[in-house]
Amino acid sequence: MNHKIKIGLFGFGTVGQGVYRVVNRAKNAHAEIRRICVRDTAKKRDVEVPEGVLTDRAEDLFEDPEINLIVEVVDDAEASYRIVTAALRGGIPVVSGSKAMIAEHLPELIRLQHEYRTAMLYDASSCGSIPVIRNLEEYYDNDLLLEVKGILNGSSNYILSRVFDHGEDYSGALLKAQKLGFAESDPTFDISGKDSLYKLIIITVHALGVYIKPEDVFTYGISTIHDADIRYAREKGVKIKLVAQVVKVDESRFTMFVMPEFVSPSRYIYSVDNEYNGVVIRGECYDRQFMFGKGAGGLPTASSILSDIMARRHGYRYEYKKMGYMDTPEYTTDVRLKVYIHYETTDIPGKMVFERIHEKYTSSAGNYIIADISLRNLARYRSLLDAPDIFLANIPVFFLDKDD
Ligand code: HSE
Repeated sequence: MNHKIKIGLFGFGTVGQGVYRVVNRAKNAHAEIRRICVRDTAKKRDVEVPEGVLTDRAEDLFEDPEINLIVEVVDDAEASYRIVTAALRGGIPVVSGSKAMIAEHLPELIRLQHEYRTAMLYDASSCGSIPVIRNLEEYYDNDLLLEVKGILNGSSNYILSRVFDHGEDYSGALLKAQKLGFAESDPTFDISGKDSLYKLIIITVHALGVYIKPEDVFTYGISTIHDADIRYAREKGVKIKLVAQVVKVDESRFTMFVMPEFVSPSRYIYSVDNEYNGVVIRGECYDRQFMFGKGAGGLPTASSILSDIMARRHGYRYEYKKMGYMDTPEYTTDVRLKVYIHYETTDIPGKMVFERIHEKYTSSAGNYIIADISLRNLARYRSLLDAPDIFLANIPVFFLDKDD
C-alpha cells in the first residue's frame, strides 16, 4: 500500500481521539481519517471533526470504496470482533488496539488474514507506546528467547505507585487512573490482572509462536492488597508490582502467569512507576534487554496505532513465523513457585498444601506464609485466593540460567 491511506476509524473515545490527533499531526503519514463510526454522533467530544465525518452506521465505512484501512479502537470486545472479522473478510487490512478481543480470538484472526490475503496489526494492544509486538516478531525471530516479563498494565501500576510511593489510598488512586484515561471503562480488568493477561497472551504468540487460551493462565490481581502487605514490602526494601511473564523453564517447556511480585531495587522494573510499562526480554547470549515507556493514555497508545498505519503503508504484515518453523515449546504449569500469602480469617495453612514452608507469621494485624507450591496446585486453589482477606504475591525464582 504505497498510495494515500484512507482510514475508516471505529471508536472515538480517549484512544480514537488520540489517533485523530496524531494522524493529523504526522504530515509524512499521508493518511487521512475519512469516516469515524461511533455509537452516538451527538455526544460532546474534546476533538472536533469536520461535518459529515462522524457516522453511526458501520456500512458507511465498509461500503466506502476509498477506505483502504480500518482502524478499530472500540471499547467493546464483541463489537470489535464483529468489525475486525467483517473487515478481514472484506479483504480490508485492520489496525486494532483491542487486546481482550485479540487475545480471545487470535487463532481465528490469523486464519482470516491468510484466507482473505489481508493483514491485521495490533502493536497498540500491548504496552501502549512500547513497540513490543513488532520487535518480538522481527528482531527476536529465533528460538534463543528465554523470557518476556514485565509490567503490562499502566493503571494498576499507577495505583500501586500512588499507594506505595505517595501514601495515597487505593480507591482514590483508582479514581485518578480512571480520570486520567488510563483505566479500562470497567477497571476491574486492570486491577484483576486480566488486562495484563490479554497482553501476555498476544506477546506469547509473537515471542514463542504459541497461543494459550486466557482461561488456562493463572492470573491474580492487586484488588485485595492490604496495608500489611505494603508494610511488609517496605520493611524488606522491595516494591509490589503487577507482573506478567512468559518464561522457558527448560529446553522444551515454558510457563506463564500474571501475579503481583516483590521486586527488588536491582531489577529494571523496580523503577517503572505510574502509568509506565516496562518489558524485560531475556535471551541466550545477551542476558537482558529492557523496554520502557508509557503503557496507557490516549496519545501514547495512538502513537503505536500510527506506527502500525505507517507499517501498512509499506505493506508490512505479521508472518507469525515462529508458529511455523520453530520447534515450539510446550506450555506447563508444573513449575515450583515461591509465594507470599497474606490471610486473616481464611485458614490458609489448614486449607492449602505446600511443598515447603519457609516462614509463617501470625499476629492480630494479619498473618502471612511464605512457601513453595507448584503453579498447577496454586491454580487449584484459585477461587479460595479470591477471598478479600487474602493477598498473594510471587517471590521470583530464576527458572533457566542459559546466559553465556
Ligand atoms: N487500561 C490499560 C492500562 C490501557 O492501564 O494499561 C492500555 O492498554
